[in-house]
Amino acid sequence: MLSRLSIRWRILIIFIVVAVIGGLVQFVIAGRQLEAATLEFYKHHLETDALLVSTTFAEPLGHFLGGEGEDGFGRMISTLQQEVGHDYLLVNGAGLVVAATLNTDYRPGDRIPSTPEFTQARSQRIGTDIRPNRAGEDTLYLAVAVQYEDNAMGYLVLTEPMQPAYADINRRYIELATSTLPVLALVIAASLWVSSTISRPVQHLRNSALQMASGSFDTRIAVHSQDEIGQLGDAFNYMSGQIESLMKTQRSFVSNAAHELRTPLMTLKLRAEALGDSALPEAERATYLAEIRQEIDHMAQLVSSLLLLARIDEGRHLPAKEGADVVSALHDIVRHWRIEAEAKGLAFSARIDNTMSELPISTNDLRLILDNLLANAIKYTPKGNVALGATQDKHRVIFEVRDTGIGFPPEQAEHLFERFYRAEEVRGRYGGNGLGLSIVKAILATYGGQISGESQGHGQGAAFTVVIDLHPTAIPHRSAA
Ligand SMILES: Nc1ncnc2c1ncn2[C@@H]1O[C@H](COP(=O)(O)OP(=O)(O)O)[C@@H](O)[C@H]1O
Ligand SMILES: [Mg+2]
Repeated sequence: MLSRLSIRWRILIIFIVVAVIGGLVQFVIAGRQLEAATLEFYKHHLETDALLVSTTFAEPLGHFLGGEGEDGFGRMISTLQQEVGHDYLLVNGAGLVVAATLNTDYRPGDRIPSTPEFTQARSQRIGTDIRPNRAGEDTLYLAVAVQYEDNAMGYLVLTEPMQPAYADINRRYIELATSTLPVLALVIAASLWVSSTISRPVQHLRNSALQMASGSFDTRIAVHSQDEIGQLGDAFNYMSGQIESLMKTQRSFVSNAAHELRTPLMTLKLRAEALGDSALPEAERATYLAEIRQEIDHMAQLVSSLLLLARIDEGRHLPAKEGADVVSALHDIVRHWRIEAEAKGLAFSARIDNTMSELPISTNDLRLILDNLLANAIKYTPKGNVALGATQDKHRVIFEVRDTGIGFPPEQAEHLFERFYRAEEVRGRYGGNGLGLSIVKAILATYGGQISGESQGHGQGAAFTVVIDLHPTAIPHRSAA
């Protein structure tokens, strides 16, 4: 039920409920103590008066109660009543009223029932009780045993209406209650503030998320705090930044792929039209057919590269579990590329650590990676040499492909691994589609491996280094390369 409410309302309700319960408990505890203290004060007051009267007038009281009747005694307690302000009642040892002021319920000669104040007074000299009088008004009764010459002569009873005490208690309760109102107002204000600091940014985040979902990938949030909400905002901004660049990459990837396919298609169309001319000499016909085959090869190469990348992106190119016989695979690779290099007049050298153990990478993928790097090295090296190095330490395997070729400016190094990226100088001069290194990087990422390229500049040769952890801690499923 609470989960249907907005955070704002939930915080407000919880704050108020807690404050009200806390306030009520305080109110009840403080109120009880206040009530007891007020009653105690009234009792004490009456008690002082009773003791004062009973000791001051012990002698005449004693005589009077002892039956040595003094006619004026009734008048005396009336005077007392006027001066001290209580009603009095004198009861003799037999429980008979001998004198009473007007406002008491009793008249001389009445028999007093044995009420609690008498019971207490008999044993403790003094006793109190609160009960309704005959008129039904709550009244405080206080009885003091009158002693004269060590004899209990009877009781002096004082009565006092409780109404003023109750009025006093009520007034204090109202004071107590009003003093909690500002606290409650403060709690409501505080909860409104707290809830708005949470709900406003969350609302803002929600709107921004919806805005992003509708296609505005440049949506960002202004972050004002460093708390959890601020961190959420930072995470959102990071996520939208990632999505934005991913979308950009995706869009340019599609347009690049279409562009790459259109050029060979145009060539195919032109050659096909030319072949349609029956007057075309046989020699040219053969050349055109060879060119068509070449373009088809190029397109097939491009399409299989694209398919491989799609498979990696979808997480379908899963890292192989079985370890490969690395050393013999490496020797195979060296044999193949040495022939290619020497055919182009390049020197080829290989330094392979023959103690290399099993790798956490399949032979196919290892071959794919090194084939790409070695093909590049040979392609982009007009003269000089190409070298392959493979070493291993306790934690990782390092492959290095080095050449003395055309190189690249250092600031290009990070772009070489982007899809379709080709340096200006190689376009039109060297064949290729700019996907090789991005495939290498994406495959390595599925194994948690890394690649970097290095060159001092144009004509300075290049070196590519691949590092594969032997015991990767976490292998990401997909690559964003
Ligand atoms: N060994 C190298 N020497 C100089 N430049 C290189 C080398 N290898 C790669 N490059 C640069 O990196 C770009 C991307 O390489 P790659 O993805 O293999 O695409 P492609 O070989 O089809 O051009 C190349 O176009 C080239 O500009
Ligand atoms: Mg290449």
